[in-house]
Amino acid sequence: MAEQEKAEVLLKVKEKYEPPKEIVERAWIKDYESLYQESVKDREGFWAKVAEELHWFKKWDKVLEWNYPYAKWFVGGKTNITYNCLDVHVQNGKRNKVAYIYLDEDNNEKKITYGELLELVNRIANGLKSLGVQKGDRVSIYMPNTIEAVAVMLACARIGAIHSVVFAGFSEGALRTRIEDAKAKVVFTASYTKRRGKRIDLLPTVEKAIDGLDFVEKVVVWDRGGDVLSEEKGELFVNFDELIKNSSPDCEPEVMDAEDPLFILYTSGTTGKPKGVLHTTGGYMVQTYYTSKTVFDLHEDDIFWCTADIGWITGHSYIVYGILANGVTSLIVEGAPDYPNPGRWWSYVEKYRVNVFYTAPTAIRMFMRYGEEWPAKYDMSSLRILGSVGEPINPEAWHWYYENIGKGKCVIVDTWWQTETGAHMITTVPSYPAKPGKAGKPFFTLEVDIVDKDGKRLPPDTVGFLVIKTPWPSMLRTCWGEPERYEKYWNTIPGVYFAGDLASYDEEGYIMILGRADDVINVAGHRIGTMEVESALVDHPAVAEAAVIGKPHEVKGESIKAFVILKKGIEPSDKLVEELKLHVRNELGAIAVPDEIEFVEKLPKTRSGKIMRRVLKAQELGLDVGDVSTLED
Ligand code: PRX
Repeated sequence: MAEQEKAEVLLKVKEKYEPPKEIVERAWIKDYESLYQESVKDREGFWAKVAEELHWFKKWDKVLEWNYPYAKWFVGGKTNITYNCLDVHVQNGKRNKVAYIYLDEDNNEKKITYGELLELVNRIANGLKSLGVQKGDRVSIYMPNTIEAVAVMLACARIGAIHSVVFAGFSEGALRTRIEDAKAKVVFTASYTKRRGKRIDLLPTVEKAIDGLDFVEKVVVWDRGGDVLSEEKGELFVNFDELIKNSSPDCEPEVMDAEDPLFILYTSGTTGKPKGVLHTTGGYMVQTYYTSKTVFDLHEDDIFWCTADIGWITGHSYIVYGILANGVTSLIVEGAPDYPNPGRWWSYVEKYRVNVFYTAPTAIRMFMRYGEEWPAKYDMSSLRILGSVGEPINPEAWHWYYENIGKGKCVIVDTWWQTETGAHMITTVPSYPAKPGKAGKPFFTLEVDIVDKDGKRLPPDTVGFLVIKTPWPSMLRTCWGEPERYEKYWNTIPGVYFAGDLASYDEEGYIMILGRADDVINVAGHRIGTMEVESALVDHPAVAEAAVIGKPHEVKGESIKAFVILKKGIEPSDKLVEELKLHVRNELGAIAVPDEIEFVEKLPKTRSGKIMRRVLKAQELGLDVGDVSTLED
């Protein structure tokens, strides 16, 4: 098994990096161990104390109602997350404090203060109301990584509408599936986004995606220039600027029950259809707020930068909700990290004196390739904390990050979590030593274990399944319209949450994540289901059958390889390979396109007809194929 080999290499990593004294001195959490011990003794008490740092219209009656596998947190509590993200700061003298600094690829900068953001959010919220959107209605957001997109998310939360952000790099097929599943009443989009200097139109994609979907009542278009809304587009389309121009900058926040839905975010699972992970208001607010505060150790004057896109959970929790709840200034950046040159990101760190920087290993590995001369050009002495997320960080990349970005003076927090968990779950906090390649220890109150398939605890330094034994505030509450898929997380190994990852722990309790244990591929930190890609391939008229695997990739972590059986009479060709790649791109988006497509006559299957991807992968990587007793022939 490739994971097992990887594990053997990583298990040898014994180094520990002590945090600099100045960082420990200012840290919110000084003594992780004793606080952790305290937190597991009284989970509810711990989270209640955190929740008290936030504003509630009405306090909860009960912290947790655990009706396995369904949890309710802060039962009876009433709040509005936007009130904590915006109004609280405006009332506390931070009206003129910058909330976001936005930058595009041409380094055009736009700043918005907490006061201005509140007004913008309220205008959009009133605009939504004027379109007939009410509490509980779904709104899809297909917009680039911009302040406007964040404001639309917050406007939904302001009035209790459930947002469903769809990454603007997805194509029409993926967008349609998500709009359809959520039955979105309104879709927000922009005329275009820009990447590597190229304009990528978004409106035509939306038009194709909603074709024939009668439940979509309005498409609101943020026209960033280009005059995309001509007369003949008709009444379905609304101009964003027109919508908010005359609407009031005041909008009372909807009083939300702690368990009222906040958003749906689709993510890949092991079947072809993405799952709509549902997060609710109170618990998500509390845990994203508190992990932002303690893991990133945010203080009043910090400048924070999470390089993710709002289309992913990392953007939701650590560009938007958790960060705003802490009232700091953060960067939001549109476009490619290395365009117009590989110094782009580091020039922003220098210019804005960024203190806390959060990115993915795939980006670090890309910058490693460009060479250390790029970060060396800039003064990055403002940095204090460096975060990693999305995939395992290999020790080589860890060291490069530590030396070349952190100059040996920063701490690295390697945060393990998922769309489903809503917030950080396993990570070091800045005041205790990190080990390269190991995420760290469980966050407060969480009991994490590494077990075999029967749920039996494994000894240290053994690879097994990562499970979480106790509910946490920001956990997903269900999968939209598919409770059975939600229940599967908790009954794959009865009684515990099955994360789908392989991991091991060492004698000091540091957890190392090795990658997915299921048919999910992690390409550049993005989750892609093998079945999703297979379905897209099979949808092409030339394809009879397809099987997809992930292969180790130097920069992306994993890349996609597809094995394809063609229909009778169809000849393999390079042209067909390109056609199939284009087809997947149109169906799902660029991130799901296989790097390699191999035409085969047969696929290894079980006697019941299930494709054994494990066998394909072992063959591809030249590894032992393991137990093949169920193989058909
Ligand atoms: O395999 C783990 C990997 O990303 C998966 C979750 O993907 P997603 O829901 O898209 O959320 C990504 C951002 C939170 C996990 O099951 N993963 C995430 N963070 C890490 C990680 N693997 C190793 N180390 C991490 N720090």
